[in-house]
Order: sequence, then structure tokens, then C-alpha cells
Amino acid sequence: MNIGIIGCGTMGSGIAQVAATAGHQVVVYDLNEKALKKSVEKLSLILNRLLEKGRINEDKKENILNNINYSNSIADFNEADLVIEAIVENLDIKRKVFSELETIVSEKCIIATNTSSLSIASLAACLSRPSRFIGIHFFNPAPLMKLVEVIPAIQTDEEILNQTMEMIASWGKTVVKAKDTPGFIVNKVARPFYGEALRIYEEGLSDFATIDHAMRSIGGFRMGPFELMDFIGNDVNYTVSETVFTAFYYDARYKPSFTQKRLMEAGYFGRKSGQGYYKYTDESSIPEPSQDQGLKERIFQRILFMLINEAADTLHMQIANAQDIDLAMTNGVNYPKGLLLWADQLGINKCVNALDDLFDEYHEERYRCSPILRKLAKEGKSFF
Ligand code: NAI
Repeated sequence: MNIGIIGCGTMGSGIAQVAATAGHQVVVYDLNEKALKKSVEKLSLILNRLLEKGRINEDKKENILNNINYSNSIADFNEADLVIEAIVENLDIKRKVFSELETIVSEKCIIATNTSSLSIASLAACLSRPSRFIGIHFFNPAPLMKLVEVIPAIQTDEEILNQTMEMIASWGKTVVKAKDTPGFIVNKVARPFYGEALRIYEEGLSDFATIDHAMRSIGGFRMGPFELMDFIGNDVNYTVSETVFTAFYYDARYKPSFTQKRLMEAGYFGRKSGQGYYKYTDESSIPEPSQDQGLKERIFQRILFMLINEAADTLHMQIANAQDIDLAMTNGVNYPKGLLLWADQLGINKCVNALDDLFDEYHEERYRCSPILRKLAKEGKSFF
């Protein structure tokens, strides 16, 4: 198979490495010569590190390097069977590139996008044959993260979807299918992890360190919400929140937070800028969490029930099936357990009661319990 990658930034470089490691001939195209040079250098560094650690041998390293060709001409995709685009997140620029690409590739070539936030249908629409277009959403870093969300547009042919899912699975990835809705699975279901934590802080119920500690020590999450937002970057994380909120027609469940917006405006992006919710210039200045175990239990439960509600509603709205929703969160963002399985283990009734308590307290749409949880509770059923 000949694979084409458009854009060799963070994602394009990683996806090219994955495809070349799976044994494909890969052409990587970028209009920026410096980006191409950087990608070549980075790959060689990565492969040397893998060699030192004994993960690959010299032959494999040579194979991977020989499998990738770098190009500054889109015309070099003329033999591609699948082209994955990973350029700047801009609808007009992407559409322009796809229109040009379609004049170069063969009739049977599958054309894909790695977009995180644009609708797949809106990109497919610029092609004269939109039925060959599909979303293939990798996670960063692509060679390490197991999850890939595959997103057919309403225009996508069923056969193209099947071929794509098979091919990405053969690259050793965990493939889940998602409907073409904002945030797909992971970037939608994860919103309350950040949003509810921010809300708890804004209400003055707790501080960053205590909320983070609750999620790590009681929930078993690798990072708490605030340290994770600082790691991702408050500029990036806020933008995703705002995009999902707007794209879901201002559904109160996704309302972004002023606290995070102010941090972004101040340039307090997190680790990369030296300050976010925490100061990173001196690690010893990270504050101690509260010792109040009851408080931490309440914080953890509130965030978890909101996450479960989001996962349940994602199933209710047919965005993905239950198994894929759980796989997405455990493989895409390393959650300690699938949220729907977690709901089953806690008891669906308990989830409904907790969400109804929040709704009674606030009378806000944000806390409405998903109909599917209520239905399962009524029928005494579980997700699995
Ligand atoms: P990046 O900024 O690291 O790389 C983009 C590359 O595209 C650059 O090398 C740039 O020179 C090149 N480029 C821009 N316009 C081009 C054009 N017209 N023709 C050819 N090359 C062009 O971006 P990154 O982070 O790799 O993101 C790429 C895509 O992947 C975006 O759609 C983004 O939403 C998506 N994505 C990003 C993730 C992340 O964590 N960074 C995760 C999953 C998806």
C-alpha cells in the first residue's frame, strides 16, 4: 500500500512513522521546507532512541527510514492508495488542498483528514467524489497512543469505511467508529473532567491541588484536571472547550469557564509558559491538598458522575456504541476504567440519584440526567 501524508508537523510526522513501521511506502508532503527537514531529523532521533532501548533492531530502523520519502510537491501522491491530511486546522485551507489533491490521485484513492474539530461532511463536500472521504483521528503522540477514531461523513461509502477501519487496525491501533459530531468521542466525553473541576473551584468549594489530588488518589486518574490542563496548555484546552460548546448550539453542559479564559488571556498557558494553575518555575511551590477525605470523595464523585452522564448521553445520541465509548476513554486519554463500565459497577440507580441531586440543587440544564441512564435504572438493566 502507498500512503500519503499531507503536513509533517506534530501529527503528520507521527502518523507517517506509524504507517512506515507497518511496512507501507509513505510519501510525506509539506509546503514548508523547514518543517520537512525538522520531521526527517526528529524521526531519526526517535528511531535511534528506539534502537538504544532495544525496541527495534538496525534492520527495522533502516526499513522504516527507507519506507518514507519526503516531498515538497503534492504531485508525488499520484500512486497513493490512502492520503491522510494533517495540516493547519482551517476549513478553507484544507478544502483548497483536497480539491488540488483530487486532481492528482487515482479514482480508488481514499482521502482522509486528521481534523480534531471540523466537520467531516464540510470537508468531504469540496470533493467531486465525496464518497471516498473519511475522518481518521489519531491522538498525540500518534506512535504511542493506541486509539484512532474513524469518522465517516454522511457522504462516505460503507466500503470506504470498512477498508479504512481494517487498514488502521492492521497498523496495531485500537479503532473506534464515531459519528460526525463535534469532538467525536474523546474530546466530547472528556469535557466534564475539566469543566466540572473548574466549576467546583469557581464555586469556592475547593482549590486546584485538592481537586487534582481527589481525582488521582480516589479516582485513579494519572493526572488531575488542573495539572492536565496545564500540561495540554490552557490555550489549546480552552479553545477545544469553546469549539465544542459553540458546535453543540451552546448546550449548557459544555459551557467554558472564565477562570480558564482569564488564564489564557494572561498567557498562563501552563507548563510551556512556566505558569498556569500552578507555577512551574519552582516545583516546591505546588500547594499541598486538603486532608479532608470527605471533601475529596464528594469532588471525585461529582466529576465522575458528570463524566458518566456525558458518556451515557454519547451512547443515547448514537454517536458511538458502548464498547467503543469505553475503549476510546481508556485508550485515547488513559482513563483508569471505561465510564459506562464504571456506571454499571457503581449501580445505574446511584448515578441517576446523584445527577438528580445536582439538578435539584442548581436547577441548571447542565445537570440534566441522560434519558438512557433513567431508562436503564427503571428497567433494572446495565450498559454491559
Ligand atoms: P502542526 O502545526 O504541528 O503541523 C501542521 C503542518 O502542516 C506544518 O508543518 C505546516 O507547514 C503544514 N502545512 C500547513 N499548511 C499546509 C498546506 N497548505 N499544504 C501542505 N502543508 C501545510 O499541526 P498538528 O498539531 O500536527 O495538527 C495537524 C492537524 O491534526 C490539525 O487538523 C489538528 O486539528 C489535528 N490534530 C492535532 C492533534 C494535536 O494534539 N496536535 C491531535 C489530533 C489531531
